[in-house]
Amino acid sequence: MSKLIAQLDDVSLAFGERVVLKNCSLDIVEGAITCIVGLSGAGKSTILRLLDGLIRPQSGHVFLRGKDICHMSEEQLIPTRQKISLAFQFAALLDSLSVGDNVGLPLQEHTDLSTAEIRKLVMDALDSVGLEHTYDNLPSELSGGMLKRAGFARAIVTRPDLILYDEPTTGLDPIVTHLITNTIVKLRNKLSGTAVVISHDLQSIFIMADYVAMLFEGAIIAYDTVEAIRRSSNPIVQQFMQGSEVGPIPI
Ligand SMILES: Nc1ncnc2c1ncn2[C@@H]1O[C@H](COP(=O)(O)OP(=O)(O)OP(=O)(O)O)[C@@H](O)[C@H]1O
Ligand SMILES: [Mg+2]
Repeated sequence: MSKLIAQLDDVSLAFGERVVLKNCSLDIVEGAITCIVGLSGAGKSTILRLLDGLIRPQSGHVFLRGKDICHMSEEQLIPTRQKISLAFQFAALLDSLSVGDNVGLPLQEHTDLSTAEIRKLVMDALDSVGLEHTYDNLPSELSGGMLKRAGFARAIVTRPDLILYDEPTTGLDPIVTHLITNTIVKLRNKLSGTAVVISHDLQSIFIMADYVAMLFEGAIIAYDTVEAIRRSSNPIVQQFMQGSEVGPIPI
């Protein structure tokens, strides 16, 4: 049995009238890359926000390392959240700070490390994403793909053991997509951590995923190793994986 680092257990969540998750359960295996797939608006980003403790479900439980975080106070959540990093779908760097200072912000804000120590950790994080030469650049001097990678560097600079990536490759060209996909795998290996990645990019998923979870109509309807998901006989999974207009998914 694989060890779980996080778990959604029978979670339901609505925003007003809009029910987003309904009796949704999901296991996140420690040390693995789990990709979450699903239609736009299905609730994928919402799952990441639940795992990061940014929002709470109306019912059900969210476990992190065996502890239910749903009833923890903001203060109790702090040590847990320091080991998690959420790389947002639309992560933005601050225009007025250099790339290096942006990446170092989480360390400036949450640690007592010296300037020299922070610089070293920032360099290391930038190096992991191939951007060590951009330390003194302003964000406006970077391309979209470089900005994404700088966002990753900021997400990993605290050495989290769980990284949540929200659509890391959306809108990027195939080469940068490949680079970022490889970066996610490399970072997982380097930090020996766990990654949860939301992605629409099947090619990337086949490269990086250990497990794939498909979110459909509020719940995870399929969860398996990437090989098993590819061979799945579930017509909804099949249609999604083939990007076909024909099938049970209403368009
Ligand atoms: N804070 C909020 N208040 C109200 N509705 C919200 C809020 N956050 C999300 N929603 C709604 O919840 C649903 C799921 O949103 P979510 O962002 O999780 O989808 P998603 O699967 O990440 O979509 P996409 O692939 O487009 O990023 C959407 O209908 C969205 O409008
Ligand atoms: Mg989203």
